[in-house]
Amino acid sequence: MGEIVVAITGASGAIYGKRLLEILQQHGRDTRLVVSNAGEITLQHECNISKEELAEATGSTLEEEGNIGAKSASGSAKIDAVVICPCSGTTLGKMAAGISDNLVTRSAIVAMKERRKLILVPREAPYATVHLENMTKLSSWGSIIIPASPGFYNHPKSVDDLIDFIIARILDHLDIEHQVGKRWTGDEI
Ligand SMILES: Cc1cc2nc3c(=O)[nH]c(=O)nc-3n(C[C@H](O)[C@H](O)[C@H](O)COP(=O)(O)O)c2cc1C
Repeated sequence: MGEIVVAITGASGAIYGKRLLEILQQHGRDTRLVVSNAGEITLQHECNISKEELAEATGSTLEEEGNIGAKSASGSAKIDAVVICPCSGTTLGKMAAGISDNLVTRSAIVAMKERRKLILVPREAPYATVHLENMTKLSSWGSIIIPASPGFYNHPKSVDDLIDFIIARILDHLDIEHQVGKRWTGDEI
């Protein structure tokens, strides 16, 4: 099994990336963590944790945003997937334009060229047309777009339930068996 790269960018919702790393660790998966400069700000502001503390707490290998020679950006490394969670409009735009100017965007473009799974968790409200057009492009090129928009049909009781709704969808697309959240059975209504 290869590693999974989790990138946290400066969109609101750093908690999704944090929770994803925790769950991947529980499932025995090796992860590499890349946090953009803006992501460092939102991670600290929203989760009160630094990227170093998060990497330590989740057994993840921390790579620096500016280190475009790091393993996450390697085409020959055994990397199964790149998950940008949350993904900012800026990072969406750079990926859609083929710009790989930092380790987040470089890992994403490498994932595209190597046909690795690339999962994007955008968050913005409302979306600008440029965000929508960029997502359309990225989706048509094979990226999986899982917006940070949890459903309410399973009657969430807490913020954790809402976060896990999104994490469950990401795990499904990573082909990881899990018990996170409740699955719809079809008998509910
Ligand atoms: C508190 C805070 C919240 C933000 N929330 C969002 C957001 O939800 N979505 C978004 O696209 N950008 C958001 N931004 C702006 C991004 O951080 C900014 O566009 C930055 O350039 C993203 O860079 P990055 O993609 O390299 O992380 C937020 C910024 C701050 C400071």
